[in-house]
Amino acid sequence: MGKLIIKGGEKISGEIRVQGAKNAVLPILAATVMADGISVIKNCPCLRDVDKTDLVLERLGCNVKREADTVTVDARGMCDCRICEDLMREMRSSIVFLGAIISRCKKAVVSMPGGCPIGLRPIDLHLKALRALGVEIREEHGYIKCEAAEITGGGIHLDFPSVGATENAMLAAVCAKGSTTISNAAREPEITDLGNFLNKMGARVHGAGSSVITIDGVEKLRGAEYTIMPDRIVAATYLAASAITGGEMCLRGVNPRDMRAMLHVLTEMGAEIKCEKNRIIQTAPNRLKSVHTIRTMPYPGFPTDIQSPFMSLAATARGTSVFIENIFENRFQHVDELTRMGADIKVEGRSAVVRGVKELQGANVVARELRGGAALVVAALAANGITAVSGTEFIDRGYESIEKYLLSCGANIRRE
Ligand code: UD1
Repeated sequence: MGKLIIKGGEKISGEIRVQGAKNAVLPILAATVMADGISVIKNCPCLRDVDKTDLVLERLGCNVKREADTVTVDARGMCDCRICEDLMREMRSSIVFLGAIISRCKKAVVSMPGGCPIGLRPIDLHLKALRALGVEIREEHGYIKCEAAEITGGGIHLDFPSVGATENAMLAAVCAKGSTTISNAAREPEITDLGNFLNKMGARVHGAGSSVITIDGVEKLRGAEYTIMPDRIVAATYLAASAITGGEMCLRGVNPRDMRAMLHVLTEMGAEIKCEKNRIIQTAPNRLKSVHTIRTMPYPGFPTDIQSPFMSLAATARGTSVFIENIFENRFQHVDELTRMGADIKVEGRSAVVRGVKELQGANVVARELRGGAALVVAALAANGITAVSGTEFIDRGYESIEKYLLSCGANIRRE
C-alpha cells in the first residue's frame, strides 16, 4: 500500500491544467464497442480505472492503443459479450458496458457488481431501464444475463436520476428500433459529454444534460474522434487544496459553468473567484469562513464527490458548517481520519456537523475510498507537521499523479 507524505503549512499557489474527466471517459470508452470502426478518444486521464477499462475492451476483442492522453479503440474485431468477475469486482463502473454490449451483440453477460466502500450501489434502475427496451434479464449464480432478439425503443422513467442508469439506457437505446424517451434522467455534464460523443458516432440523442432525453434509434454507428471534457471534481479538489492554505490558484482547461455549485460554496467561504471561458482564478484568505449547509444532490446540486474534500475546508474554517449527504449512505468514512488530525466533527446519520478548529495536526491516516482520500490530502496540506496518507491506490483511481500537480504548486509532498 503506497503512502503520501505531506508536510503541511506551504501555500498551494500556481497554475494547473486539469485532467480529463474520469466519469466521462469510462462510459465513452464503453460506447466505442458499438462502432463499426475506429474511435480516437483524446484527453483521457492516466488513471488505473481507465487502464482497467482498456483491459475490458481488449478482453471483449477490441484492439486498444494508448499514446499519451489518446486512446484508440478498434471495435471491429469484438468477439465476446462477457465481462468476467475479476474485472467487475475491481471496477464497479464496468456495469456501464452492459448497455453498449447488449446494443452491439444482443446478448451480454456480466458478473454482479459487489458492494463498494461508499454504499450499497444497487443496479435495479439500470436493469429496469434495459427491460423497458425489451431486454430479457436473468440474474443467476452472481451473473446478470441479458438477451434481446431486438432492442425496441420505449419509455423509461427513472425513479431516481441515476448517472449510471441514464448512461446504460442511452447506450442501449441508440441503436434500438424506434424512439426512446428517458424521463427523470441524470443531468450531470458527463451525460452531456456521452450524448455528444454518441451523436458524433451517428446517433440521434436529444436533450442529454436535461431531465428528458429522447433518442431516435439508428441502424449503426461509426467510429468517431472525441475530446473528453475536463474533470470538474478534480478541478474543485485543487481549488480546495489551494483555498485551505490561503493560496492563489489558476486552473486551465476547465469549464466553470459545470462547477457553479462548488464555486458558490468556495465564494461563501470567503474565496475570491474569477471565471473566464476555460479558466478559474481563485484567491483565498488566510482562514476560510464556515458554510451554512452543504446538501449533496444530483446535478446541478452540490456533487457528492466533492463533499469530503470540502469537509476538510470546513474543518479549519471559522465557525460551524453542516453537511448532509443525500446520495450515498456511507460517504463519511474520512471523518474518523480527519478527527485523528484534530478536526471536530459529529456525524448523526446522513448529517455531519463540523466545528472549525484553528489548526489540524499531522497524523497517520488511511484513505478508504477515492474522494475521502483526496480530502485527507487537502487537510494534510494545511496541518501542522507531517501527515502520512496511506491507501494511495484509492486516490490514484481518480487523480492523475496528485503529488506532481501539488508539488508544482509549492506543496511539500512525496510518495513512498
Ligand atoms: C456516478 C459517478 C460517481 C458519483 C455518482 C453520483 C461514475 C463512474 N461514477 O456513480 O462518481 O458519485 O454518479 O453523482 O460516473 N441507485 C439505485 N439503483 C440503481 C442505481 C443507483 O438505487 O440502479 C442509487 C445509488 O445507490 C445512489 C444513487 O442512486 O444512492 C446515485 O447513484 P448513481 O447516480 O447511479 O451513481 P453512479 O452512476 O454509480
